[in-house]
Amino acid sequence: MAATKTYLTGVKPTGEPHLGNYLGAIKPALEAAREYDAFYFIADYHALTTVRDPEAMRHNIRSVAATWLACGLDPERTVLYRQSDIPETFELTWILSCVTGKGLMNRAHAYKAARDRNAAAGVTDLDAGINMGLYNYPILMAVDILIMETDLVPVGRDQAQHVEYAADIAGSFNHLFGDGYTFRIPQGVFPEGDASVLPGIDGRKMSKSYDNHIPLFLPENKLKKLIRRIPTDSTPVEAPKDPDSSVVFQLLTHFADAEQIAETRKRLEAGGMGWGELKNDLFEAINTEIAPMRERYEELMTSGSELDDVLAEGARRARERAQRVLAQVRAAIGID
Ligand code: TRP
Repeated sequence: MAATKTYLTGVKPTGEPHLGNYLGAIKPALEAAREYDAFYFIADYHALTTVRDPEAMRHNIRSVAATWLACGLDPERTVLYRQSDIPETFELTWILSCVTGKGLMNRAHAYKAARDRNAAAGVTDLDAGINMGLYNYPILMAVDILIMETDLVPVGRDQAQHVEYAADIAGSFNHLFGDGYTFRIPQGVFPEGDASVLPGIDGRKMSKSYDNHIPLFLPENKLKKLIRRIPTDSTPVEAPKDPDSSVVFQLLTHFADAEQIAETRKRLEAGGMGWGELKNDLFEAINTEIAPMRERYEELMTSGSELDDVLAEGARRARERAQRVLAQVRAAIGID
């Protein structure tokens, strides 16, 4: 029987998750974790390329871990750890830097985009404001993946190039030192269709950059207020309404059960259901699903909660694996 595949992903601790992240990334990842040997980690050293506020960093690291646990990650099954707890990662980053072409890094999307922004702003030094962390980012990410002998990497499309780079870099090492050790070649797994696209309160895709998002663990009263603020037209209560052009209805379809969705559609089309009532229903549907998780999240965020123990145990399990891989790599390159 084939061994269970290793499934690994990392999340940068750069802010609070929203409902789009929950439905599009967190929930599917938790479902997949049941099928695979799953590793989820907090990419804190990747966040350091942009985060300069130690308090925010500290808070966001715990917040990501608490979010995953509150949403149902089972730490017995899935190894949950912080990237920074695996020092072997940084040693392997140097080793793999030495087999990675500089040209490959020059072509990385994020780096090129940063240079393009400089060009567009008329800055003559195209590398102005770009730190080496941003430049080396793809190598560090390749190591996150390779050091855990990963088969599958579930990520957004924007991360596809990074996973290809991991495969390329593994290939270079295998070509040079494959008699001693060969890295497993990883593959990206991308969300299908538009199941992951949740509208934000303005109808565009929910995204922090559009500032149209609904934070996942917003306190109940604020959630209610935010939902009330979703723009609707002035169709009177008794007039028929088109559910498919209503953001409130669209959001409801992601949280209510099939029966409620069908019933609501009928009532909107027939007339007699107002936007206010629809918004109340949306609030109830979201809150019913989120409230228990929100409570668990708050518990985990209090200092002295079991969060720290879970991360310590995750680090222990992840490190065991990383140490085994690094020892083989060191032997393969002759530094042992
Ligand atoms: N770069 C990823 C992002 O911005 C985060 C990340 C870091 C990651 N290391 C990883 C994702 C390894 C998957 C595997 O979303």
